[in-house]
Amino acid sequence: MGKQIRTGRGTARGEEAIRAAYEREGPEEFYRQHGADYRNPHESIVRAVLTRAVETWQPDLSAVLDLACGSGEAALALREHGAVVEGADPFTGEAYLARTGDEVLPLSFEAIAQGALAGRSYSLIVCSFALHLEEKSRLPKLCYTLSRLAPALIVLTPHKRPTIAPAWGWVLTDEILHERVRARLYAST
Ligand SMILES: C[S@@+](CC[C@H](N)C(=O)[O-])C[C@H]1O[C@@H](n2cnc3c(N)ncnc32)[C@H](O)[C@@H]1O
Repeated sequence: MGKQIRTGRGTARGEEAIRAAYEREGPEEFYRQHGADYRNPHESIVRAVLTRAVETWQPDLSAVLDLACGSGEAALALREHGAVVEGADPFTGEAYLARTGDEVLPLSFEAIAQGALAGRSYSLIVCSFALHLEEKSRLPKLCYTLSRLAPALIVLTPHKRPTIAPAWGWVLTDEILHERVRARLYAST
């Protein structure tokens, strides 16, 4: 799968290289090219914030969809709390398989918004460091479609974005801030 990028995980130089490639190629092409080698340099924060979220909110972890699952950062953290997780990502199947031992559903946000998961149901959807990547104009339909698949959604984001409006099927019920990463809990309406 495409040329590989040395992520130099955890080093400032590695993060710089990732940022430069990301800016040069744009998000979609970046993950298409480098998805097999993807690792989130902030994985320890993802793990810590998800642990706090699980302890605080005690979500039902019996059937979790890890949306835009990367190499399993959220899935691996949630498994430690007994979660049964299915990952979906169009670009990182190889990396996810290598780390979790599971195949991913190779689905994009667009495919999911168009009904690719229709008929399935999950106890919880988690989307970590990814929902802000979806184009603003396509977010309402994606969010609404997700709200028909699960009663709860946890979004992890290092930004204030994305903003999810109640009209899109979700109400924000709580937020945890941990080392500048937000975990937001939504309930489907
Ligand atoms: C910053 S990574 C986050 C990965 C992982 N959830 C984490 O917490 O590290 C963004 C993820 O979004 C995925 N992605 C990019 N464009 C996407 C799209 N159009 N539909 C679904 N996923 C997409 C990428 O493949 C990548 O795994």
